[in-house]
Amino acid sequence: MDDTRQDHVTAAPDDRLGVGGLMLREAWYYALPSVALARGNAVHRTLLGEPVLIGRAADSKVFALADTCPHRGTLLSKGRFDGHEVECPYHGWRFATDGQCTSIPSQTKEQRPQPCDIRAVRYAAAEHQGNVWVYIPKQRGHIPGHLPPVPEVPAVGDRFQMHVSVTFACNIDLAVIGLMDPAHGAFVHRSSLWRKEDSIHEKHKAFSPLPESEGLGWRMDRHTASRNSKAYGLFLGGAPQTEISYRLPSVRIEHAGTSKYNYCGLTACTPITADTTEVHHVMYWDVPGAAALRAVMRPIAKRFLDQDRRAVMAMVEGLGFDPPTMLVQDADTQTRWYYRLKREAFAAQTEGRAPRNPLTPITLSWRS
Ligand code: FES
Ligand SMILES: [Fe+2]
Repeated sequence: MDDTRQDHVTAAPDDRLGVGGLMLREAWYYALPSVALARGNAVHRTLLGEPVLIGRAADSKVFALADTCPHRGTLLSKGRFDGHEVECPYHGWRFATDGQCTSIPSQTKEQRPQPCDIRAVRYAAAEHQGNVWVYIPKQRGHIPGHLPPVPEVPAVGDRFQMHVSVTFACNIDLAVIGLMDPAHGAFVHRSSLWRKEDSIHEKHKAFSPLPESEGLGWRMDRHTASRNSKAYGLFLGGAPQTEISYRLPSVRIEHAGTSKYNYCGLTACTPITADTTEVHHVMYWDVPGAAALRAVMRPIAKRFLDQDRRAVMAMVEGLGFDPPTMLVQDADTQTRWYYRLKREAFAAQTEGRAPRNPLTPITLSWRS
């Protein structure tokens, strides 16, 4: 499907296009905020249907292993972790944080296997700007020599303030397109304070493809925030300039800044299973009074995400009847781009080549 101007209505992308709901591998996925992982702790997360044990060792380094014991599959997260080794709760096999088995209590010296014969599956894990990411490879246990960079928030990257998350009972695509949709604000987030239907007005926004080094995605170029983003102005003390980028598999980064202050939002969708998606939203700001602001912002952020969740759930329920649907120009163009880039990512993986971003700079117009 292309995005030519003449093509003003198309059927919505779905499974017939081959990527609907598929989970893209060979990518970093948001796992949890750093603050949720104390030193000497290890927790279970299911990422793309895979059980992952994510821990922070005594030296503060974060690691990730398959959360299933190589012996009989028991969840290692149900066992003990002393900051150095994980002990399976069933027969006490022990594993170092790089997955190497260090003890098999039931084996005599003459028997095989010995600990040196056994490794737990390891994942690449990275901690950056207050978040823990896990790289999900194509083949379980394979960590490529060259990993793509972890998504990075600009300007206030070390001013982590808070994280909220909400689980959407749908596949990753419906969560992503539900959140990126530019035309739902006045309806889904309707508020007598800052968003009313009569605040809808025509917008023209310039977009460009992301540079290759930042992954497969696009950017809404830096511009002065529109007048129905009043909250920004109040928060940042002036008319902020804002820029939003989106990159596969599911990361949206927003930066708004005035000459005084900055705000950044990172939204990342992580598929738990094929039809459950965790939506993480992380906020950064350098406005003074962080603690008091957090108390105000947390319920607002939660409420916004929950409004999005309910909107997406209503769509999922409707889609359950398999109705014909459509995508319009230009309000739905980013949804088309998402599917188009996702198809390109899969094609590149299948063909063993670097993905090529097919997008070109363009100005889109819509009313919101
Ligand atoms: S199942 Fe883990 S040690 Fe046996
Ligand atoms: Fe929304």
